[in-house]
Amino acid sequence: MARLLLALIFSLIAIGIVRAHRVPITILETAVAKGAVCLDGSPPAYAHSPGYGDGIDNWSVYIQGGAWCQNVDECLARTRTIYGSSTVTFKGFAGKKNFDGLYEDNSAVNPDFYNWNTVHIFYCDGSSFMSDVDKVDPAVNLTYRGARIYNAVMDELLRLGMGNAKNALLSGGSAGGLATILHCDKFKTLFADTTRVKCLSDSGFFIHGEHFVGADWRENIFSNVISTHGLTNLLPASCTSKVNPNLCLFPEYLVQDVKTPLFLIESSFDQYQIANHVFRDVTPRWHDCTSDLTLCNSNEITTMKDFRNTFLSTFTNTVADSSSRIGYFVHTCYIHGHIFDKAFSTCSASVGHNVLDNKSIAQAVGDWYFDRSEFEHMDIFNDLPRNCSFTDWPTLLEMCMAHEKS
Ligand SMILES: *[C@@H]1O[C@H](CO)[C@@H](O)[C@H](O)[C@H]1NC(C)=O
Ligand SMILES: *[C@@H]1O[C@H](CO)[C@@H](O)[C@H](O)[C@H]1NC(C)=O
Ligand SMILES: *[C@@H]1O[C@H](CO)[C@@H](O)[C@H](O)[C@H]1NC(C)=O
Ligand SMILES: *[C@@H]1O[C@H](CO)[C@@H](O)[C@H](O)[C@H]1NC(C)=O
Repeated sequence: MARLLLALIFSLIAIGIVRAHRVPITILETAVAKGAVCLDGSPPAYAHSPGYGDGIDNWSVYIQGGAWCQNVDECLARTRTIYGSSTVTFKGFAGKKNFDGLYEDNSAVNPDFYNWNTVHIFYCDGSSFMSDVDKVDPAVNLTYRGARIYNAVMDELLRLGMGNAKNALLSGGSAGGLATILHCDKFKTLFADTTRVKCLSDSGFFIHGEHFVGADWRENIFSNVISTHGLTNLLPASCTSKVNPNLCLFPEYLVQDVKTPLFLIESSFDQYQIANHVFRDVTPRWHDCTSDLTLCNSNEITTMKDFRNTFLSTFTNTVADSSSRIGYFVHTCYIHGHIFDKAFSTCSASVGHNVLDNKSIAQAVGDWYFDRSEFEHMDIFNDLPRNCSFTDWPTLLEMCMAHEKS
């Protein structure tokens, strides 16, 4: 018992050490004068970990995700969470954010970016940083200003020296991955032509899949976001000129027109989309199955396989139509979000999970970013969702660190 306890304490310390990169959160008060505020009117927040050594002029900027609010009630509910108020964010994280995965200052798990300037932009507008409504909704005091937040934080990063960057990477996960696709070309304009600028969208490819069950529901989600946040005239004209503007938050209508190099990390069994974007009315059965794959029956597995087929055909067609070359890592682990967690960006590869072309996500991204090699791989062999989580996290971490160091 005592030995077990000691082992446990030791493991916790080990996790504490490797996860110790904690970065102070800055509340950007100066943004308020520009009207760049969260849903509740509080200033936006970010965390910046300065670069050092030969990473001093390289910048990696991550946009946080967290779905969207689809109506006034949902947006109002968000003001009491980190997704609608920097006041709540600051308190919730006790003033500091853990930087993990591709943002961690540990060269063992993050060899390509560990000493870069790294920035985490907190998501508090509910519109993937797209909204820009002048008027505050007087009935509820909600402000829809995501695009202004994006601009105000970029101004601040330029003030901190980002304009001198030799290398820059805009990335984001989930709703932040979608924001990355939407803002990528605009991000590029912040830099000199000689700067290497690329974008990395993690689990941001939310499919429309018009012939797959739930298409109406998926259209509804985004058209509600678009109307609640007044986005119709703010969406890319390259999309709104060719399809119904209400479809213009679906990456399958956006990615083709992104000119800046873009990398997409996806699961063809994306956990969030399968759980939330297939059925509007989620039954207890579907909820149980999507929370624990061992509880799925054969019909449910068939629905998941159909999702994957739709995902892969949508993705493949989009990439084929793209004006610039798209890098991608599309696997079959049943997860959502990778790069802000070393378990999925790096470590799960050391136990053979989530490897494509013998590379972890971190290696694939590094090779692509630095032009060491292209990376365009998808797992077309596994047609079942794989549970790639690892119960023994401390052991995995140890293996991972040892693997990466060797
Ligand atoms: C940062 O950018 C410079 C200029 O391109 C490059 O020489 C250096 O290797 C980069 N540092 C890292 C850690 O990637
Ligand atoms: C909105 O904010 C104003 C100014 O802070 C306040 O006077 C008013 O009561 C608020 N309205 C609601 C509905 O919360
Ligand atoms: C994956 O496996 C782990 C460990 O057995 C389990 O705790 C978790 O619930 C599983 N996840 C899913 C979605 O089935
Ligand atoms: C896979 O990569 C590892 C190092 O990351 C290397 O040692 C091994 O030879 C590679 N295997 C194949 C089949 O390429």
